[in-house]
Amino acid sequence: MQTPSPILTLGVNIDHVATIRQARRTVEPDPVTAAALAELGGANGITVHLREDRRHIQDRDVKILRQTVQTHLNLEMAPTDEMVAIALDIKPDYVTLVPEKREEVTTEGGIDIVNNFERFKQVVETLQEADIPVSWFIDSEVEQIEAAAKTNAKFIELHTGQYAEVSSEEELQNELDILCQGTKEAITLGLRVNAGHGLTYRNVFPVACIEGMEELNIGHTIISRAVLVGLERAVREMKLAMRGQL
Ligand code: PXP
Repeated sequence: MQTPSPILTLGVNIDHVATIRQARRTVEPDPVTAAALAELGGANGITVHLREDRRHIQDRDVKILRQTVQTHLNLEMAPTDEMVAIALDIKPDYVTLVPEKREEVTTEGGIDIVNNFERFKQVVETLQEADIPVSWFIDSEVEQIEAAAKTNAKFIELHTGQYAEVSSEEELQNELDILCQGTKEAITLGLRVNAGHGLTYRNVFPVACIEGMEELNIGHTIISRAVLVGLERAVREMKLAMRGQL
C-alpha cells in the first residue's frame, strides 16, 4: 500500500488565472483574489511565474501577492539580471529558477545548471544573501542534482513533465523510479525536494508517495477544474487526490 509523504504540501500555481485576464487585457479574473480562494481551499503555498514576456502574471500581481498571501509565495523566474532585481525588491518566500524560451507554450524541461554553473552559482549567492532561499527546477539527473547542491541552493523541484506524458504502465513505473532515485540522491546531498509540471488529479498520487517529497507545485489542472467547480473546491479536491482519497 502506497502512503503519501507525511511532509507533503501543495503549492497552487495561479498563472492561468492571469492567462484568462490577459486574453482581454482587462482586470478580471484577478490572480490576487484567486490566491486568497486557493488558500481558503487549503493551498499551502502560492506559486507565480513572472515571465520575461509578461504573458500572464504581471509585476503588479507579484507586488500585491507579496502583501496578501498568507501561506508562502514562490516566485518562479528565469535566472536573469532583470528577474533577480525584481526578486530582491519583492522578497518572495522562495524563488524557483526555471529555464525560459519565448516561443514555448509552457516550461519545456529542467534548467541546465551543469553548463551554466559559475553564473548560476552567483545568482544563488545573490538571492540567498538576501535571505531568499533558491530552488532549481531540474530534470531528475544525477549531474544536475549534484550541480544544484554545489550551488548551495536549498531546494530542487524535480520536473515531472516526462512522468506526466507516459503512455503505458511500464513507462510510468520507469519515470517514477527516476523521480524516486533523484529525490533520494538530492536528500543525501542536503537538498530539500519539490516536484511539479503536468501533474493532474489522475497522476498525482504516486508522486505524492515519494519518500521525502515536500511540495508539489500544480497549476493547469487545478485552474481547469476551477473553471467548472470553483477554485476552493478544485484545491480541496487536489489535496484529496494527493492523499489518494479522490
Ligand atoms: N513547476 C514549474 C517549475 C513550472 O514551470 C510549472 C508551470 O508553470 C509548474 C510547476 C506547474 O505546472 P502545471 O501547470 O503543468 O501544473
